[in-house]
Amino acid sequence: MSSRPEPDEAAGSAHGTQAPGTRAHRRWLFDVGADIYALLTWQEPWRAHCRSMVDHFPGGTARILDLGIGPGVSGIAVLERLPRAQVVGLDFSSRMLRQAQRYTRRGPAPLALVQADATHLPFPDGSFDVVMAHSFLYLLTDACSAVAEARRVLRPGGRAVFLEPAGGGSASWVLKSLSVRFAISMALWRAASRHAGRFSEATLRELLEPHLVDVATLPTLGGLGLIGLGARAEARRHPSPPTVAAAGCLNQAPIGHGESGE
Ligand SMILES: C[S@@+](CC[C@H](N)C(=O)[O-])C[C@H]1O[C@@H](n2cnc3c(N)ncnc32)[C@H](O)[C@@H]1O
Repeated sequence: MSSRPEPDEAAGSAHGTQAPGTRAHRRWLFDVGADIYALLTWQEPWRAHCRSMVDHFPGGTARILDLGIGPGVSGIAVLERLPRAQVVGLDFSSRMLRQAQRYTRRGPAPLALVQADATHLPFPDGSFDVVMAHSFLYLLTDACSAVAEARRVLRPGGRAVFLEPAGGGSASWVLKSLSVRFAISMALWRAASRHAGRFSEATLRELLEPHLVDVATLPTLGGLGLIGLGARAEARRHPSPPTVAAAGCLNQAPIGHGESGE
């Protein structure tokens, strides 16, 4: 596992979206919850939904970045569909990454794990065919900067695929899975997203459209979730890459995703 120095909290607040100190506090919360999160999400319905994200990858995808990989379940699920791909899992929580290192032994191929903040990605421009994230953007106070970074590290024509909690749907759908662990995971997902904010199709598009082209949203998880898709423009369609500032991330209020839910 590789790691890079923490981004400066003051640099984080220079994006105008994050109070100093909150990043360390949130990372601590993920460290504390890592073991139970790993236990709850290693189950077939959750993994199947992670695997289904591959349906939205472009043909020939070989290099994938999984943002906020947590205990590795999402990245390993992708490897089950694409065992020859290289999947890099990134997270800022060392304890989540420790779990991912344990789980990667169960997968068909190793994950490369990197400890870093998603708003300051330690990769050169154009490094990946796909940047994906499952249950991630809704947790960020500076999601705009994370999407700008995702775009930067995509190759031209590369695809971003996000799966996030939505305001719609019915909790009774979850019971059809007949999995207690899935039901508990979804109940916690609903509770966390009621607190952090859920996306509507409009608010997810609003977040992605300044950075990506061909943006689309699709309901998933019986309407409880939303898939957000977009691509990095081919060079000729978008010659000068927008910086985080040019893409409208400066002074953006912490994202209220627009759906209070229930
Ligand atoms: C809800 S978990 C999702 C884990 C995994 N993708 C899944 O679906 O099971 C969100 C993860 O994002 C990580 N995270 C949150 N904010 C982050 C940031 N700014 N940079 C990197 N990782 C972050 C947390 O540590 C946590 O592991």
